[in-house]
Amino acid sequence: MKALVLSGGAGTRLRPITHTSAKQLVPVANKPVLFYGLEAIAEAGITEVGIVVGDTVDEIREAVGDGSEFGIEVTYIPQDEPLGLAHAVLIAREFLGDDDFVMYLGDNFIVGGISGLVEEFRGDRPDAQILLTHVPNPTSFGVAELDSDGRVVALEEKPKAPKSDLALVGVYLFTPSIHEAVRSIEPSWRGELEITHAIQWLIDQQRNVRSTTISGYWKDTGNVTDMLEVNRSVLETIEPYAEEAEVDDGSEIIGRVRIEKGAKVTGSRIVGPVIIGADSVISDSYVGPFTSVSEGCNIADSEIEYSIVLKDASIIGVRRVEASLIGRNVEVTPAPRSPSAHRLVLGDHSKVQISS
Ligand code: TTP
Repeated sequence: MKALVLSGGAGTRLRPITHTSAKQLVPVANKPVLFYGLEAIAEAGITEVGIVVGDTVDEIREAVGDGSEFGIEVTYIPQDEPLGLAHAVLIAREFLGDDDFVMYLGDNFIVGGISGLVEEFRGDRPDAQILLTHVPNPTSFGVAELDSDGRVVALEEKPKAPKSDLALVGVYLFTPSIHEAVRSIEPSWRGELEITHAIQWLIDQQRNVRSTTISGYWKDTGNVTDMLEVNRSVLETIEPYAEEAEVDDGSEIIGRVRIEKGAKVTGSRIVGPVIIGADSVISDSYVGPFTSVSEGCNIADSEIEYSIVLKDASIIGVRRVEASLIGRNVEVTPAPRSPSAHRLVLGDHSKVQISS
């Protein structure tokens, strides 16, 4: 059995972060979201992994390398344009050969791994097995309709009148019969080859499409709100540690707080769960619950809570930052009091909230 991990795509919902970097590498508790998926694949005993990559190929390659750190062997599969999840299967034909495979969306986060699921699939070998979860807002997802046996009878992409509240989770298991399906479908109105259409094609051909409903935690980290929420849930499980960091007597560390090697905390209050990356400096500041600060950051004379701060960013003299995703090398500083005008240098699609 092989794995196909999708790490291309446009990432429009995470702009402007995705203008310059891959969304699959945005860190959750200071580890790229993609790494959690690769670890789950390795844990399920799968070693041959194809990673579909787009414009951000160099960055993904640099982060994952040949996969040996995860105990897997990675083959990179370039996708010229993000033409859909089924298109990714189409171009991976040579890599996949005639093996069964698990398709894993590189920006999805699943607690509890996929080992049980892979085991179940290996036993029955249906033509396809999809993963479902109950959601409160099915109109925003691909939704499945099941018969009383749990067999999938129809799939609908973002339905206006959903027939169930069971949304597709970003992990799929396929036998080689999916190849005929992805060759048989036409692009959708948005110009993409949709995996839901390919699976619907299998259903229409009376093939066996099974589903497993998971009750565990799942999130598509494609937008900032979900990203922060996943970060929150992972931080709740971190082990407190500060052995290799420098924390002065004027600082107070409360709860689950992990401070990595070479980081320095002075005159600050850190209330966990929080992770502070290597070589970051926190001075005269408050860092509140559910915050991940990556390596090399500088937070001075500021307050921050429920946020993710990427590598080498600095936040100086700002109260108070909340529910924010701050990109690499970003500088956040207060505006001068007078004259009362905002001076902004913002990239395309930036979102800024200013109280005036
Ligand atoms: P999506 O989140 O569905 O699409 P996207 O990355 O284009 O994001 P947005 O909707 O914000 O514009 O993609 C799910 C995963 O699959 C994600 O990790 C990107 C990857 N992907 C590909 O590798 N190739 C593709 O053609 C598409 C559509 C997605």
